[in-house]
Amino acid sequence: MAKIKTIKDVDLKGKKVFVRVDFNVPFDAQGNISDDTRIVAALPTIKHLVEQGAKVVLTSHLGRPKSKADVQFSLAPVAKALAEKLGKDVVFVDDCIGEKVKDACSKMVEGDVVLLENSRFYSEEKKNDPAFAKQLVEDTGAEAYVNDAFGTAHRAHATTAGVAAYLPIKVAGLLIERELEFLGSKTETPVRPFTVILGGSKVSDKITVIDALLDKCDAMLIGGAMAYTFALAQGRKVGNSLVEPDKVDLAKAALEKAEKKGVKFLLPIDNATTQNIDFAGGSVSEIKIMESDIEDGWAGVDIGPKTIELYKNQVAESKTILWNGPMGIFEIKDCAKGTFAVAEAVAKSDAISIIGGGDSVKAIKKSGYAKDVSFISTGGGASLEFLEGKELPGVAVLDKE
Ligand code: 3PG
Repeated sequence: MAKIKTIKDVDLKGKKVFVRVDFNVPFDAQGNISDDTRIVAALPTIKHLVEQGAKVVLTSHLGRPKSKADVQFSLAPVAKALAEKLGKDVVFVDDCIGEKVKDACSKMVEGDVVLLENSRFYSEEKKNDPAFAKQLVEDTGAEAYVNDAFGTAHRAHATTAGVAAYLPIKVAGLLIERELEFLGSKTETPVRPFTVILGGSKVSDKITVIDALLDKCDAMLIGGAMAYTFALAQGRKVGNSLVEPDKVDLAKAALEKAEKKGVKFLLPIDNATTQNIDFAGGSVSEIKIMESDIEDGWAGVDIGPKTIELYKNQVAESKTILWNGPMGIFEIKDCAKGTFAVAEAVAKSDAISIIGGGDSVKAIKKSGYAKDVSFISTGGGASLEFLEGKELPGVAVLDKE
């Protein structure tokens, strides 16, 4: 793959730069930002541009508003949080096109930062409407495009892809550069042994990524409910566990591919099981550890202690580790042992450790080990699609070396 140009390869001094970031952050019931990871992750790019003397016009979506202005999806609180983190003023404009945008952007001087309102207040954003993309460029007066929204790079929207057609310079920010380095080159040509740990509930969600990673890794460890579909494929009994009977053939094909490629494919050798799960109350009835087969009336909810040991040993032998997806229903304390044991093992290993987005990011943060891993992706769907080998539209539009 040709190398993507980044903000380090171009001179943006004095230029007005349209910067797509992913400020799609969660809020708590009181309306406070409950996880600012994505704001923090965008800071290196914003600071670099400010220090270079660019005029920084930031744009993002937030949530999934119904294509019209809606205060609960406003980026105004993000502008406030960003200003505090940057230690400088951030001018918030409560629209992303139109007179207010023209006015605020025309007044900018070198090093200024403007944040535009949620681009998804316009239906044209998701449709990647060319006229809307052109207007975003014209109203802001942008002269260059920087995409640093890795979390949204799998969407071909106006701000993530369309605007690039109207700008002569189109480069990646430092976050996208790091995401591509860890999810891309460090898994393409890994320091070996390279172990992939995959969890989550559905084989169907992960089968493409399993297939793509079997071409690259030395070992693959499976957890979460998708392990029960693999158990079915091996002719084992799974009791009342969550399974996808129509995906058993896909699981069999993955097992065959692993064997052909000489990839060590590890499935749980024991499981934590229960008879009743109360998702709303966050509890389960009695937990029983079962080896191999799971009895009727019982459902697997986590990997068991012997599997934890097996997986920990494999992690300890690895030099590169990629982890995506929990080992059990980690939101419920009694079903979280496997996920947190994996988090601890990954964090304590000396390997290059990459957490590939989604629920495993929540798990590693909850475990307190987030600071001990090499890289945590800010992408959920985007990281999965990238690992599947798909070209991300938000990356495809950028200049190559
Ligand atoms: C995400 O949170 O995964 C990204 O911000 C993309 O959001 P979307 O799924 O609403 O496009």
